[in-house]
Amino acid sequence: MAFFGHHMCRAFSSSAFRSVAIKHVVIIGGGQMGAGIAQVAASTGHQVTLVDTSDAILTKAVKGIEASLKRVVKKKFADKPEAGVAFIEKALRNVSIATDAAAAVQSADLALEAIVENLKVKQDLFSVLDKTAPAHTIFASNTSSLPIGDIASATSRLDRFGGLHFFNPVPMMKLVEVIGTSATSQETFDSLMNFSNALGKTSVSCKDTPGFIVNRLLVPYMLEAVRLHERGHGSKEDIDVAMKLGAGYPMGPFELLDYVGLDTAKFILDGWSAMEPTNPLFSPSPLLNKLVADGKFGKKTGEGFYKYK
Ligand SMILES: NC(=O)c1ccc[n+]([C@@H]2O[C@H](COP(=O)([O-])OP(=O)(O)OC[C@H]3O[C@@H](n4cnc5c(N)ncnc54)[C@H](O)[C@@H]3O)[C@@H](O)[C@H]2O)c1
Repeated sequence: MAFFGHHMCRAFSSSAFRSVAIKHVVIIGGGQMGAGIAQVAASTGHQVTLVDTSDAILTKAVKGIEASLKRVVKKKFADKPEAGVAFIEKALRNVSIATDAAAAVQSADLALEAIVENLKVKQDLFSVLDKTAPAHTIFASNTSSLPIGDIASATSRLDRFGGLHFFNPVPMMKLVEVIGTSATSQETFDSLMNFSNALGKTSVSCKDTPGFIVNRLLVPYMLEAVRLHERGHGSKEDIDVAMKLGAGYPMGPFELLDYVGLDTAKFILDGWSAMEPTNPLFSPSPLLNKLVADGKFGKKTGEGFYKYK
């Protein structure tokens, strides 16, 4: 595996330490991703504190978790409705909510951030948490596009900082990318791996490079589809049909872009192109930029490459 070399070079310094068992996880950000991670962590017996900026957002997040748990139970406990109810109650008992992240992390084994995709905002958050969290607390970010090392640099615990990159929707998607920076200790990396596995996910090791594995391959692929179309080599519809039926993908690249959000795709691409301006895979797309400038962000705004009702 890609992380093997990384492991080897840490073998000496880490042999005296053990990885930390993560029991109490504080998740900061109760949006799409944070709520999904909270649900899965609570369902697998972890004590979860979900933090966001207001009680109203948190109440909505917990309602969403409950609704999602009901969907899970309908499938998993179809013939055992009582066990299903018990499963939901048990999971919900593991979730508490808070608006003060600095106080919440005082008893945390892991502080996992899933707030807005903005480096400065993430750094400010972790710099505050660094002062109140116990020494053993591991910090992790769910960022899709920012370097983990840049976020970690706002703290004094570079060895206890890594990435846990989940996929949307979290309860359905089986993968977690576990990211170690050059400063992440082996024990921290192992703790994050063990935590991710304890959530029932399949984990892969990643370096702290743009897009980790999945998005690094997916974003250039989707953008190349846009460029193919811009060059007049195929209609959106034909390209989508071709990739679904010819490559067996569940969605075509234009459908996927509309689902992800064109604003998000542009934000990611612009960030990477700033980091690696000469990489042709990260070069901007005039068509994508135009759609975003026109407010056509995809499914969420009712129009992107396609129109939605
Ligand atoms: N949506 C995806 O498909 C996806 C997939 C993987 C990773 N991510 C990453 O996960 C993170 C969150 O994405 P999302 O889609 O859940 O966003 P979202 O907008 O649904 O949720 C973000 C939440 O964070 C809260 N928040 C913002 N600043 C905060 C602060 N300082 N303290 C506490 N709460 C704060 C907001 O109120 C909001 O509820 C981003 O870094 C994103 O890149 C997203």
